[in-house]
Amino acid sequence: MDLRSDAVVLFGVTGDLVAKKLFPALYELTRRGRLDMPVIGVARSRWDHQQLTTAARKSVLEANGRIDDEVFDALAANLTMLSGDYADPTTYQRLAEALTAARRPLFYLAIPPAVFTPVVDGLAASGLAARGRVVVEKPFGRDLASSYALNQALRAAFDEERIFRIDHYLGKEAVEGLRVFRFANRLFEPIWNAEHIDNIQITLAEGFGTEGRAGFYDTMGATRDVLQNHMLQVVALLAMEPPAEAGDDAFRAEEIRVLGRIEPLAPESTVRGQYAGYRDEPGVAPDSNTETFVATRLRIDTPRWAGVPFYLRTGKLMPGTATEVVVEFKIPERALVPGGATPNLLRFRLGRRDGITLSIQVKEPGADVAGHTVELPVDFDAALGHRREAYERLLDDALDGRHLRFAREEAIAQEWRIVEPILDLPEPVAPYARGSWGPAQAQALAGHWHDPR
Ligand code: BG6
Repeated sequence: MDLRSDAVVLFGVTGDLVAKKLFPALYELTRRGRLDMPVIGVARSRWDHQQLTTAARKSVLEANGRIDDEVFDALAANLTMLSGDYADPTTYQRLAEALTAARRPLFYLAIPPAVFTPVVDGLAASGLAARGRVVVEKPFGRDLASSYALNQALRAAFDEERIFRIDHYLGKEAVEGLRVFRFANRLFEPIWNAEHIDNIQITLAEGFGTEGRAGFYDTMGATRDVLQNHMLQVVALLAMEPPAEAGDDAFRAEEIRVLGRIEPLAPESTVRGQYAGYRDEPGVAPDSNTETFVATRLRIDTPRWAGVPFYLRTGKLMPGTATEVVVEFKIPERALVPGGATPNLLRFRLGRRDGITLSIQVKEPGADVAGHTVELPVDFDAALGHRREAYERLLDDALDGRHLRFAREEAIAQEWRIVEPILDLPEPVAPYARGSWGPAQAQALAGHWHDPR
C-alpha cells in the first residue's frame, strides 16, 4: 500500500499533544498543499465544530506567533468533530459513515494508554482498520510486558506495514542529522571510540513543569516519558556501528543491534529526583514517588565503547530548555603544553536552537605557551535556514506510508529492557529545587556534567 492517505482521524483531539504539536503540523501541511483531505477529530468531550476550530486556531497562534487566515480557513474547512465514547461501537459506526469516501484513512491515536485497546478494537470491529494506517503515540506500554501486549492488540487489527510508532525525536532534523555527521565526515569516525572518547553526556532539560498534564505525568515519570524513548534513541544513533550495506533497513537494523548491546540500567548508578512543590499540583498523588528528574550511567558492551560511560539526565523545571549531547574526548597523552590541556568537546544541540559546537585548544596569547579553549559554533538556523518541525515531517511520512522515521517494534522492546531495572523503584525520590540541575547526588554521578548553554 504505497498511496497517500486521504483522510486523517485524530483520536484524542481535545488533548495536549494535538494542541501543542498536531494542529500546528496540520496547518503547515495545509500551507504546503499536502493536506487537502478531511480531518476528523474524535474525543469523549462534546465539542462542536466551532470549539474545534477555535482550539486549532489558538494552537497555531501559540506555536507560530501568527496565522495566515487563508491557510487556516482551508484547514478549518476540512475539520469536523465527532464526539463519542471510545468503548461504544456506535462511535465507530458514525466514524465509518463520515469516512465513506476515504479509501485509506490515517488513524492517529493521541490517547492515554487506558483507552488504547478499546480504540484499536473499535477500529477493527467496524472494519475501518482493514483499510487504514495507524499512528501510535507513546507511551508505548509501561514496561516490556505491556508493550508486548499492546503490539499484539495492534497487530491483530493492522498489518505491520500499516503501523507507525512515533518517537518524535526521530523526526527532528538535528537528530536525524547525527547519521550524516557520523558517516559522511572523514574527520570524526576514526576517533569515534573508546581509545579517543572519554565519555558522552546527554541532557534533555526542560525549563517548565508538567504544564497542565500533571495527572497523566504522575503515572509515567521522566524515565518512561523521555529516557526510555527519545534519549535511548539518541544513544543508538551516537553509538551504532556503520551499517555494512546502504539503505534504511540496514541502518535501522544496526541501531537495534547496538541497543541490544546496552546493559540494563542499574539502580545504584541512577538518581531519581522530584522538584519542590510537585506533589501539590492538581492530579498528583500527595505521596507521589514519581520522578520528574532522572540521571543515569549506561554502558555499551561493544569493543568500540569498552569502558566509556554514557551519562544521561533529564528533568522538568531545570535551569533552561535544551537537549544536548556532549562528546568529551580524551586529552592527549602528551599535550606538550605547560599545565596540561583541556579536553576537546563536541556539542550537538538538538533542541529548538540546534547546531554543533566544537571546542578546541589554541595558544593563550602572551609569552608563555599555554592552551586556551575556543569554540567553533555552527548555528543550523543561520547555516541551513528554516527546517520543518518533527511532527509535520512525521505526519507527512505516515500519510505517504514511509516508515523510515518511525520507531521499530524491536527497538522499543530493547529500550524497555534497558530501563526495566529502574522503573518504579521503591526508594524515595530525592527532592530538588526548581530551576536547579536536580538533586546533588546527580552531580556526583558524572563527576563533571557539561551543562547546556
Ligand atoms: C514528549 C514528552 O515526548 O517529549 C514531553 O512527553 C516532553 O514531556 C517532550 O516535554 C520533549 O520534546 P521536545 O521536542 O520539546 O524536546
